[in-house]
Amino acid sequence: MVSLFLSNEELGKKNDDHKPTAIPPIRAPQWNASARVLPRKLVFKRVAIALALGVFVFFFVKNIPTDYPIRDHRRPVYDTGGPGGRPRPGGLGIPKSMPQFRPNPKIPPLRPKIPDPAFGPRSAPDGGYDGPLTFPHLAVSLQAIYETRGTWDVNKNVLFAASSLQSAAALLPMACQMGSELRSYVHFALMGSSDMGIEELRAVNGIDDSCQIIFHDARLDHSSSSTQTRLETGASHALFHIHAYMHPQAMLVGASIAEEGYFLDAISKKARALGIPLLQLPEGSPKRLAWMTKLDSSSLASWNKISIDILIQAPPGASGNLIRLLKSLSAADFSGGPTPHLTIELPHVVDPPTAQFLESFQWPPAGAYNPTRVRQLTLRHRIPRSSLTEEESSIRFLESFWPSDPHYSHVLVLSPHVELSPKFYHYLKYSVLEYMNSAVAVIQEWDSRLLGISLDLPSTHLNASEPFTPPSRKVSQDAIKPPPAEADDPTPFLWQAPNSNAVLYTGLKWVELHDFVSRILALQHGTTQPPPFFPHKVVSKRYPSWLEHALELSRARGYWTLYPSSKTARNLAVAHHELYKAPEEYESEVDNKADGVGEAMLATGPLLESLPNNGNLLPFNEMPLLSWDGRVTEVGEMNEDAAEYTRAFRQAVGGCEKLDAVELAPGKSVKDLFCSRDD
Ligand SMILES: *[C@@H]1O[C@H](CO)[C@@H](O)[C@H](O)[C@H]1NC(C)=O
Repeated sequence: MVSLFLSNEELGKKNDDHKPTAIPPIRAPQWNASARVLPRKLVFKRVAIALALGVFVFFFVKNIPTDYPIRDHRRPVYDTGGPGGRPRPGGLGIPKSMPQFRPNPKIPPLRPKIPDPAFGPRSAPDGGYDGPLTFPHLAVSLQAIYETRGTWDVNKNVLFAASSLQSAAALLPMACQMGSELRSYVHFALMGSSDMGIEELRAVNGIDDSCQIIFHDARLDHSSSSTQTRLETGASHALFHIHAYMHPQAMLVGASIAEEGYFLDAISKKARALGIPLLQLPEGSPKRLAWMTKLDSSSLASWNKISIDILIQAPPGASGNLIRLLKSLSAADFSGGPTPHLTIELPHVVDPPTAQFLESFQWPPAGAYNPTRVRQLTLRHRIPRSSLTEEESSIRFLESFWPSDPHYSHVLVLSPHVELSPKFYHYLKYSVLEYMNSAVAVIQEWDSRLLGISLDLPSTHLNASEPFTPPSRKVSQDAIKPPPAEADDPTPFLWQAPNSNAVLYTGLKWVELHDFVSRILALQHGTTQPPPFFPHKVVSKRYPSWLEHALELSRARGYWTLYPSSKTARNLAVAHHELYKAPEEYESEVDNKADGVGEAMLATGPLLESLPNNGNLLPFNEMPLLSWDGRVTEVGEMNEDAAEYTRAFRQAVGGCEKLDAVELAPGKSVKDLFCSRDD
């Protein structure tokens, strides 16, 4: 679906950038499609039959004299799943019932080949055991996971690890939830000095087979009587062995207060050395980060890479609004990662209440996890006293952020009249990781179309005069029908019209918008009259001037913005129209009166319950798609409109008439829209 906008060369490059090395694209097995709507009982019955069959086949094959390894023919069939498609929920290539990772008891225990010189004496000064390192149980379970493609660099393995039983008890429910989503192979490695058996650990924590967790006993021999140094080196060596067999895409460990210090030190050092993304879960994660268990291994691998900056452009005289927004930001839950950087663009005149509030404003908020006490706030205070023009305002705004790595660094744009829910950041991170970093999003290049992710559901069209009615649920062409109870639920949707109330712009598209505006401005400066192509503004002057350019870019390229369903939106953000202030560049032209919408309220329910299908994010191909003016459309039609718009744009800009069709093909940047301009 992207081919219209990307040359082959670029597609090739993008693929090289993103495609996991040496792993074929992913698709759900076709037979998974209907399994989801099967009643639970029936599913269990089927799984039981499958298991019984599996055991039968196992013994059958085992008795064949050739010593050939058993192939599990329930392995996923890999391919791309079609344009805009995504493997169905519960799929992503993981079979409904896991292969039985049968240990082979004949495998000898793992021992590091060269005894570590640091472990000379058998009895250490503190009296603990300090002999050579041996892992009596690890080799067995590691060799049994061959089928998870653990020896490949890119696979679907996710590793939970714990040394203390307290931490294990906190992690296991999350591991169980993640395992039962069947998006990744979830492993749990027990290290440390406890002497509880794995079976007992499972029983104590209520982990049954439905959890789909593969356990690894990564403890040393004599673990309960070992010195701490031996345990520390043991944890490090254990991770080394695990990595060789598993190549975990991400590793999750418990909160510092529940976990042994030596273990966290050893593991974080080793994980860094081996290049394993390490995620340390905050306290209370199973509840607050429940959405995390729905991410696949590819999203989790990007967890530490993504960064989100927050950008607020405050018009003069908006203190009430700005203070409310900042208070709601302070109350938000940023657990599970660093607090985002916040930039506030202040007008020339800062009113006293704002100045007073900012004096004591702390960012990151007082309660947020911030071990290094770093300040993440930038205040920019403008010098020119005169009101900004459209052009100056766009420039100032677009210059206030630049993504360090456009693939992973994004910016959340907030208008002061918006108030955020405490859960907004979880939704944002969840959406970014799912729609930009999951295996299917990467392979199908979902980010090539995604301009931004909105937290707010606008009540009007971009011209602010026509009320906007969100589309109804897309009727699926697939055989699977949505369950009747959900059929009337409001749906998230894709809309070509961008917004500025509360929208995350992706790094890639920000770079493009920046370039686009820079070229438009150069063009307008080079000619005495603006080109006839821009006869009148489409976007209302209640929105900042740069939004017009974001719309032009969306129309020329066929980009869309993701909007939440009305149900989800109430859990994310509300725009308070009753205290609305016009953007500075249009201050004299727009009156600040409310646009008739009553006082909006944030909902307080749990975030996941407001999302469709028990907290899953809907794939793009299951959402309705709207053209910029609000018509329900299809990708093909949007492409045609974009091609027509691009043609008209180029003609207006001038100099393109002499170019032939090949030269008109879109290139790597927005430069192709301005074909008369060099550079
Ligand atoms: C506002 O936009 C909508 C959707 O594009 C359109 O139907 C309507 O005619 C516009 N209203 C005005 C006054 O331009």
